[in-house]
Amino acid sequence: MMANRVRHDLSWDAGDVPVSDLFDDTFYSRQDGQAEAAHVFLDGNGLPERWAMLPRFSIAELGFGTGLNFLETWRIWVKTRRPGQQLTFTSFERFPLATDDMARALAPWSDLGSLTTELLRRWSSSYSEPERCWQMDSCTSLHVVVGEAETALANWAAVADAWYLDGFSPAKNPDMWSAPLMQQVFDHTKPGGRFATYTAAGWVRRNLEVAGFQVRKRRGHAGKREMIVGKKLECEPSSG
Ligand SMILES: C[S@@+](CC[C@H](N)C(=O)[O-])C[C@H]1O[C@@H](n2cnc3c(N)ncnc32)[C@H](O)[C@@H]1O
Repeated sequence: MMANRVRHDLSWDAGDVPVSDLFDDTFYSRQDGQAEAAHVFLDGNGLPERWAMLPRFSIAELGFGTGLNFLETWRIWVKTRRPGQQLTFTSFERFPLATDDMARALAPWSDLGSLTTELLRRWSSSYSEPERCWQMDSCTSLHVVVGEAETALANWAAVADAWYLDGFSPAKNPDMWSAPLMQQVFDHTKPGGRFATYTAAGWVRRNLEVAGFQVRKRRGHAGKREMIVGKKLECEPSSG
């Protein structure tokens, strides 16, 4: 078990892509993290089409990291939402980044600029707090729960319409893909809700299927052959 620590130390790859020193892995695709967020997590969850139908929509994420997935989601939400709709985005993160590292990582995406500024302003003012709950605009709230994902999720009294499963690679960060955690994800998904993830690792897929999801493969981002997505059926299949 890794000791609790406040600062998540990084190295910087070519093109200023952040690499975790704790996990020896990148936070997102070296090709284009924003495009990866759009393809894997939004499109993989049927967004923005699915939120168009609902007055309230809830997204949950394993691994807040740089906040890039949240920012791309917020950008698309701002462009597509209708008056009165509400989005709640909850992310579980054990090793929060320092504000200056987050700022450096997010700098390449100029179309996220004003949204990034809003996030960094809030992040820097509550760096040491275990719960970060912010109204980002009148229709968008962000909740970052700082802690080990399985424990934090067991205490989460809500369910999501869509899950972004974004731990580091399963080989380097197995805790983020374990059978008990995938069961927690399923149990915290609304009937008809979905998940998406960039990995297609066989044991992750099996953990998600055993938890109860209907899982399928689809084309991955930037030349990756496969990723997986899944759905929680509206009605549980009968056992008889
Ligand atoms: C691939 S990165 C997430 C990238 C992020 N979604 C983004 O948009 O930048 C994985 C994240 O999972 C976090 N993490 C790793 N193990 C964890 C655990 N057991 N519980 C909670 N968070 C964890 C890491 O600190 C890291 O920020």
